[in-house]
Amino acid sequence: MPSAAKTIPCHIAIIMDGNGRWAKTRGLPRIKGHEAGAQAVRECVEACGELKVEYLTLYAFSAENWQRPKREVFSLMRLLEKFLKEKTPELIEKNVRLQAIGRLTDLPKRSQQQLHKTIEQTAGNNGLTLILALSYGGRLEIIDGIKSLLRAVELGHIDKAMIDVEMFSKHLYTRYYPDPDLLIRTSGEMRLSNFLLWQLSYTEMYVTPKLWPDFTKKDLFAAVEEFGSRQRRYGVVE
Ligand code: FPP
Repeated sequence: MPSAAKTIPCHIAIIMDGNGRWAKTRGLPRIKGHEAGAQAVRECVEACGELKVEYLTLYAFSAENWQRPKREVFSLMRLLEKFLKEKTPELIEKNVRLQAIGRLTDLPKRSQQQLHKTIEQTAGNNGLTLILALSYGGRLEIIDGIKSLLRAVELGHIDKAMIDVEMFSKHLYTRYYPDPDLLIRTSGEMRLSNFLLWQLSYTEMYVTPKLWPDFTKKDLFAAVEEFGSRQRRYGVVE
């Protein structure tokens, strides 16, 4: 576990990449990589709980992922339902509150029902908030935010002269959460892939070559340790 408790990030966001490659190197179907990825999710949630991280956002299914082969999309949705159903008692026991961001109504009805059930059943927990980004796209979120702001202006709830960074943030899916302090991406790719484009403006990035199913608690601790050594300046000169 990282030694300097004072440098624990309040909010960690993760781009869980490399499930497909993990399966391919083992001669397995891609879904086996996603199943192994779900195990890594469990380990990561546990690690964040131990570190007293307050928010963990996981990029579980992007708006672009709908373009994958139908079979893979179907299997991913089933895996999500299974994960939520099986892990709800554990989330409750570990005091984890589940939340979700994205265009959730795009998900199959069954997935939506299970998701809302777990959200309701964990609503009273006050430990880690686990946020799943599902059918999520950063550009779509910004468009949805603009539409929401325009509606508020039309209804006379706000004057357009009042629009600033803080107000716009209140019209995003993430309005209830602070911006991430640390972004972790696995599998060595150096890109954001349309994830939390607005919210990651001043986030520290940590990229590891490890594929997501191989990412362990120890790897999360290493990322947090590295975060502790960073100097955050937010564009200001000291
Ligand atoms: C990226 O790997 C991963 C995904 C698109 C899905 C993430 C899903 C999980 C980790 C499992 C289920 C999650 C939950 C919350 C139950 P990739 O398929 O793009 O890998 P590749 O780049 O190697 O092909």
